Order: sequence, then structure tokens, then C-alpha cells
Amino acid sequence: MLELTEIHYKPATSGRAILNGVTLRAQQGRPLLISGESGSGKTSLLEIISGMVGAQSGNIQWKGSRLNQRQRRWLCGVVFQFPERHFLGLSVGQELKLGHRRMAGDEQVEVLSQVGLRGVDSRQAPERLSGGQQRRLALAVQLLRKPEVLLLDEPTAGLDWSVRGEVLDLLYTLSKQRVLIVVTHEPDLFRGWNCEHSQLRDGQLLALSP
Ligand SMILES: Nc1ncnc2c1ncn2[C@@H]1O[C@H](COP(=O)(O)OP(=O)(O)OP(=O)(O)O)[C@@H](O)[C@H]1O
Ligand SMILES: [Mg+2]
Repeated sequence: MLELTEIHYKPATSGRAILNGVTLRAQQGRPLLISGESGSGKTSLLEIISGMVGAQSGNIQWKGSRLNQRQRRWLCGVVFQFPERHFLGLSVGQELKLGHRRMAGDEQVEVLSQVGLRGVDSRQAPERLSGGQQRRLALAVQLLRKPEVLLLDEPTAGLDWSVRGEVLDLLYTLSKQRVLIVVTHEPDLFRGWNCEHSQLRDGQLLALSP
């Protein structure tokens, strides 16, 4: 279980607090959906959970132990909005290998099949994949790090509706094995999910009934 308690966050460059006492719990097998309007602090919250930035106060515990920023970077995999804009590899295979100097070929095959890219030629350029395949590749890159917590920022943004459904199904499947938190300004897209749903508003999270 991942637990955030009373997180307060005000970036040095901001005149106002963005998170004002955020408390949440997320557990494996039950995804947590966090909705909120544009500017409500959804991306900032993921940056804090994943240890990319530090909050002014509050604490974050994993399985009952408090984790610092560095430990959270190891724990979490994050797929930010439009991850395909940040691909670096010249091929699918190279993209998967970034940060993994020695990776067995079967590890690559396994992760590709986990995200539904089994048949894809790993010599192909990531830009030549379809929009949905690119999202799957971005997920595969994170899954290789074996994160126990997977954080997703607007995972279906910019995808057409049929591809969107496929990506949502994949994420739902992945949530069985790990803590999964999605932030979105379009919670209606997740209607088919059996999940916890909270809304971020005025820097606080309000639980919404299912
Ligand atoms: N480092 C920063 N310095 C100053 N202001 C910031 C910083 N990071 C975020 N903000 C401000 O905090 C607010 C929340 O930003 P954030 O990106 O977390 O919102 P969001 O809910 O993800 O919005 P969107 O749905 O548009 O992606 C915004 O008003 C943003 O301008
Ligand atoms: Mg955002």
C-alpha cells in the first residue's frame, strides 16, 4: 500500500500553494483515478509521488515505511503526458535498452508481449509505430524497471477512441500486479473501471463515491 499523508507543496516559483494537505491511499489490484481540472495540480502530484520534486511537508509511505525522494524514484515508474515526444532510441529495441546496458533478448520479447507489441520489429523506428503502439512502448520502457508503483498522466490523451479503449484495457490489466495511479481531466473515459476515484480541487483530494 502507498500512503500519502498531508502533502503540502508550493514550488519556489509559484505564488500560491498547489497541494494543500493531500492525503491518499492506493493499493495493488485496485487502480486509483485522480481527476481534476487543468491546473489543479495533477501532474505536480505525480512528480511528488515519483520523487522528482520534494514537498514542503507531509510524508509518503510504502508498505508502512517512509520513503525519501530517491527511494521513490526507484519505486515508481512514470509515464508522463505524450511520452512519445521524449523517445530517444533510433529503434524500438534501442528505446527499450536505454538505461539497461545488459538486457537479455528474451526480457525484451517478454515486456513487448506484456504490452501487446509482440509482433513488432524491434529494429523499427519508434516514430513509425501507431499512436497506440507508441504509448505501449512507453509503458514497456517503464515496466522493464519493474516498478511496484505505476503512475500515468493522461494516458489516453490524443488517441482516437478505439485505440483509447485498448490502452485503457492494458492499464487495467497492469493494475492487477501493482499499484496504479492515473491522473486525468476526463474521468468519464474510465467508467468501465472498477477503481477508487478522487478529485483534486483547491489543493486537496476529495473521495468520490464509485
Ligand atoms: N514549478 C512550478 N513553478 C510554478 N508554478 C508551477 C510549477 N509547477 C506547477 N505550477 C503551477 O501549478 C498549477 C498546477 O500545475 P499542474 O501542471 O500540476 O496541473 P495539472 O492538473 O496537471 O494541469 P493539466 O491538466 O493542464 O495538465 C498550475 O497553475 C501551474 O502553473
Ligand atoms: Mg498535467
